[in-house]
Amino acid sequence: MSGHPTRIGWFSAREVECNPPPPAREHPYRLVLLGPPGVGKGTQALLLSEDLRACHLSTGDLFRATRCQSAPSPAMQVAIDAMNRGELVREDLVIQMVRERSKCIQCLGGFLLDGFPRNIHQAEALSALMDELRVAPDAVVSYELPWEEIVARLSGRRTCSECRAVFHVASQPPSRSDRCDRCGASLMQRDDDRPEAIRVRLRTYESETRPLADYYSGTGKLLSVPAHGTPREICRRTLAALHALAPPATPHPTSSRAPG
Ligand code: AP5
Repeated sequence: MSGHPTRIGWFSAREVECNPPPPAREHPYRLVLLGPPGVGKGTQALLLSEDLRACHLSTGDLFRATRCQSAPSPAMQVAIDAMNRGELVREDLVIQMVRERSKCIQCLGGFLLDGFPRNIHQAEALSALMDELRVAPDAVVSYELPWEEIVARLSGRRTCSECRAVFHVASQPPSRSDRCDRCGASLMQRDDDRPEAIRVRLRTYESETRPLADYYSGTGKLLSVPAHGTPREICRRTLAALHALAPPATPHPTSSRAPG
């Protein structure tokens, strides 16, 4: 979509650089988005990227893109099977995938990291990586919503099979029920949006991911944002909370320009 930073570097890891490269920002925003499955992190990342010009880096999107390949590696097939059941993908694989995309973490266009970290071990791995790259997160935005609304958002989600645009049968319906408004491709329901996988994902969130709020609250960078209302309202709420913080950290003088 025009106006959104390209994510080619994220999807292709080392081989391809974003073209055109994202515009370097004097103060690039580097945000971590937290929250239960279906709370609306991806929807917010899209809206926030319009305002902040930072790139939406989603680990879930990475796995879904790999699933579309004709012959995923055996390790990746195991990851895809775990994802379809609603379980977390193997830790070492996720951390390796993020490390291979260090240039996106370091990019002077900034980032909105969605889906990583998902537990304390991943949070420590991210912290170590960012220390190595001499960058720091500006904020960790944690979206909050009651369970019943989350389940309604997940069960009604429809995703474009081509461009990954997200719709909802009730709150964001496409103009034609089975077609993407953006590219015209068919819409599908994600395998992990089936009721049994939703149950596993919510349980996993409670045991693995929710403790991250405590972990980050000690850093003074945690912003809790209620996720009720329309996507635009939530986006405005997020921006207001961000702007109430100090401006984003100036890039470390030794950070190199890296395409995202
Ligand atoms: P991932 O893709 O990260 O999924 P998730 O965290 O479960 O989040 P979702 O994408 O389901 O939801 P969302 O919060 O982005 O909501 P959305 O904006 O779409 O991960 C998938 C899987 O990959 C994991 O389960 C795991 O297997 C694996 N994985 C990924 N990262 C991993 C990691 N680090 N470690 C291990 N495994 C990993 O919105 C949902 C719906 O609600 C949409 O239909 C939308 O239109 C609608 N909606 C949004 N906002 C609103 C609103 N304000 N009002 C009404 N409807 C709304």
